[in-house]
Amino acid sequence: MWKAAGGPKGSSSPAAAAAVTCLLVTGTLLVTVGHRGGAGPVERPVQPAVAAASSSSSSSSSSSSSSSSLLESSKAFSTYFRKLTRERRAVSGPPRRSGPPAPVERLSAADLFIAVKTTGRYHRTRLDLLLDTWISANMQQTFVFTDGEDEKLRERMGAQLINTNCSAAHNRQALSCKMAVEYDTYIQSGRKWFCHVDDDNYVNVGSLLKLLSQHRHARDVYLGRPSLERPIEAAGLLAAAHTQARFWFATGGAGFCLSRGLALKMQPWASGGAFAATADHIRLPDDCTVGYIAEALLGVSLTRSPLFHSHLENLGLVSDIHNQVTLSYGTVENSRNTVSLRGPFSAEEDPTRFRSVHCLLHPDAARCPGPPPL
Ligand SMILES: *[C@@H]1O[C@H](CO)[C@@H](O)[C@H](O)[C@H]1NC(C)=O
Repeated sequence: MWKAAGGPKGSSSPAAAAAVTCLLVTGTLLVTVGHRGGAGPVERPVQPAVAAASSSSSSSSSSSSSSSSLLESSKAFSTYFRKLTRERRAVSGPPRRSGPPAPVERLSAADLFIAVKTTGRYHRTRLDLLLDTWISANMQQTFVFTDGEDEKLRERMGAQLINTNCSAAHNRQALSCKMAVEYDTYIQSGRKWFCHVDDDNYVNVGSLLKLLSQHRHARDVYLGRPSLERPIEAAGLLAAAHTQARFWFATGGAGFCLSRGLALKMQPWASGGAFAATADHIRLPDDCTVGYIAEALLGVSLTRSPLFHSHLENLGLVSDIHNQVTLSYGTVENSRNTVSLRGPFSAEEDPTRFRSVHCLLHPDAARCPGPPPL
């Protein structure tokens, strides 16, 4: 019955494959990513078009790229992976400081631009749920980008509903087309932060503000959850290593944010049609393209946050729901992948758990039974 899940086949969805393939890309050659243990099959290789990226993107690779020795690149790789591993520990490792760092900027919800990407056939199954929960309390911050008119939705959202006129297909071009409209609309808004989420994400705007206020919006900040949870096997890479530029990207399915400072610098590759051209050029999906522009072209590294969550991870393991920035839901092999919390709604009434999460965070909200009795 319940079919509002993320990818068509859980973790083997195209999104999962894409997440692996564009993890690390490169100026000059395709990279194939080995699985843990090295014995597993290699995911779809990165399209060769990536090679084209280096020839015209002046800032990403040096002219001597093709002659760099394998030895040099293997050294570079192992250093790189050590660094990634360290960073990962810094993000998810057990030694935690007590409490979050102090804010460096005072932010209010009016400083946020939250773009929700959806498509016509999910308006009823996914969007209505978001409108009943987190969007209802954050209508002025939230803009829904879709691909067709919908009177019912228009009635609820007014001008916050944006018909991108992009194709409703779930392909790379259509997704880039939407991201481009999101970006342009954000730039016009003048707001301090751009955050992108999917239509299967719950956004805890309070936590999001807390997180963003630890950064300066005028600086270059690219914030999200990296597409892979573990370092890639260096061995798998070395086999194919002539790589020059490489980048991490924040997986779009968990949501990510860009500071205004960085978004403005991205303009040459992102505004007014340039985004689609950039994505076409490297032949990678929309979220990878954002990472490519930020990391590979502008040299701004992804700031990793474990507070963003997509349906590609085991959501049952998420604890401390109050402090998470985004949540999601999906199905894996016919069983539900959701955050785990008790009521107020049963799993039958609230299969995604978003209604229950919303009432946990906002006990006084409409549609919530109110604070629990003492
Ligand atoms: C989509 O098309 C409609 C009708 O032509 C137009 O009013 C609207 O501005 C277009 N949307 C975008 C984002 O260009």
